[in-house]
Amino acid sequence: MTLLKNVIKSIILKVLKLIESHCNYYVARGNQFVPFVNPITGVRVAQPCALNAKETWAYGMDKVLHGVVQLISLEVYQQTIKGAVAELGVFRGFTASVLNQFFPDRKLYLFDTFKGFDQRDLNVEEQLGYNTINYEKFNDTNIELVMKKMAHKNNVVIKKGWFPDSVVGVEDETFCFVLIDADLYQPIYEGLHWFYPRLAKGGFILVDDYHWSDYAGAKKAVQDFSNECGISYVPIPNATGSVVFAKSKI
Ligand SMILES: C[S@@+](CC[C@H](N)C(=O)[O-])C[C@H]1O[C@@H](n2cnc3c(N)ncnc32)[C@H](O)[C@@H]1O
Repeated sequence: MTLLKNVIKSIILKVLKLIESHCNYYVARGNQFVPFVNPITGVRVAQPCALNAKETWAYGMDKVLHGVVQLISLEVYQQTIKGAVAELGVFRGFTASVLNQFFPDRKLYLFDTFKGFDQRDLNVEEQLGYNTINYEKFNDTNIELVMKKMAHKNNVVIKKGWFPDSVVGVEDETFCFVLIDADLYQPIYEGLHWFYPRLAKGGFILVDDYHWSDYAGAKKAVQDFSNECGISYVPIPNATGSVVFAKSKI
């Protein structure tokens, strides 16, 4: 019975991977959806990198998130918003490869411990009353594996270590777009406080997992930051319910 289940699961994963690898990204233009063509390279963007079956299952299917990232990239280019791109919470680099594809000429800073959650952050979760026992570990990764997925490797800057200690050397940078996908209260809260002042006018910060009950700290971090700083956000209906902060242009 277990063998049969595993065979069926592996067939489903293979079919999903096949579908995913042939999907193009689309963008609404006029009254229709047309394939997304990268404004810099002129290349039609499909699945940005090869994923193994587990990665396709876990990270490869969130087309709404990718759609939002591609539309944000269009805004950034069309409205000439200057600055680098960053991701806080990289794991095996899947979303990072999407960012690298949609912002081919921008520096891409990738912040992660590359060995999973830090005990200091897990302690904060527990103090807040969240049970961390079932949290995924995210330690099955390394920098080489992440870099392999990048189409524009020269622009990628790896910032390995515990955030916010890992920001050393980046303090004077300006960002047009930051994606925070660190799951836990402390890094998300710290990330918002660190990146928002460095966001270009008209820039965007997307925080993943806002409506994801497995990581309740994400919602609290976003709400605490928003209430303390008086900055509002828009929720979006992707797989885990993200939110987007858009910085005023004046
Ligand atoms: C959900 S995973 C990121 C998934 C990734 N965005 C993707 O596309 O697959 C969360 C990541 O956040 C990282 N992380 C969490 N807290 C951190 C901190 N304080 N400093 C650095 N990395 C952190 C973990 O190591 C983990 O790799």
